[in-house]
Amino acid sequence: MRKHIVAGNWKMNNGLIQTETLISELKKQSKTSDAEVMIAPAFTNLWHAFQSTRQDNIEVVAQNMHFAENGAYTGEVNAGMLKSVGIKTVILGHSERRAYFNETDESLAKKVSQALEHDMRVIFCFGEELEDRKAGNHEAVVKSQLENGLFHLEADAFKHIVLAYEPVWAIGTGETASPEQAQDMHAFIRKTLADKYSAEVADGVSILYGGSVKPNNAKEIFSKPDVDGGLIGGASLKAEDFYAIVNAF
Ligand code: 13P
Repeated sequence: MRKHIVAGNWKMNNGLIQTETLISELKKQSKTSDAEVMIAPAFTNLWHAFQSTRQDNIEVVAQNMHFAENGAYTGEVNAGMLKSVGIKTVILGHSERRAYFNETDESLAKKVSQALEHDMRVIFCFGEELEDRKAGNHEAVVKSQLENGLFHLEADAFKHIVLAYEPVWAIGTGETASPEQAQDMHAFIRKTLADKYSAEVADGVSILYGGSVKPNNAKEIFSKPDVDGGLIGGASLKAEDFYAIVNAF
């Protein structure tokens, strides 16, 4: 059975002291659900966060990485560097990376391959913009993001892939996709995987929903059969809210 996962994407928030404080608050929360819990602090705090959560059921993951092995890429961080500080999972393709840092399906395909070569797990993000949804193109856009970013992989690789559907219009806006909209898209994503690979691959992949998930809407969204968890932005910065979402499973 595929796993339930709730991951907190801290984005560009929290220096070292705030990271320490938030982690100590996270550790005080009680977990009543079966969901795997992940947090994604900034690069500068990964090692510290890894050290301070290693005895707890919280996995520390990275928000991004470069596709190259090494070299003259000033300001970038590679898979080996992440592994060297204990990080085994990386978020790739977040819509903010696509929109503000020119990440393309092609560069993301390379990043995915590079992460898998380093035995990392990938949380692959994608999702349509508001215009796509208004024009009724949301499924076509999502399908092409999946095809271009992931469909160069062999079926076996999907054991190491988690998908995160994040409609851009729902991120940080307070506007969530309705539970039905999330379910419809997740079912479409699973069908797209089944058509390309097999029902077994499609059924085994966890598909997270992201975009204004809060304590008051998580339960309904997570109750949908194809929604296997959440990628949480704003609400992951408050320990109680984050665990209310974790415990919505
Ligand atoms: P919000 O939960 O703040 O809408 O952010 C979602 C997100 O982008 C998680 O990666």
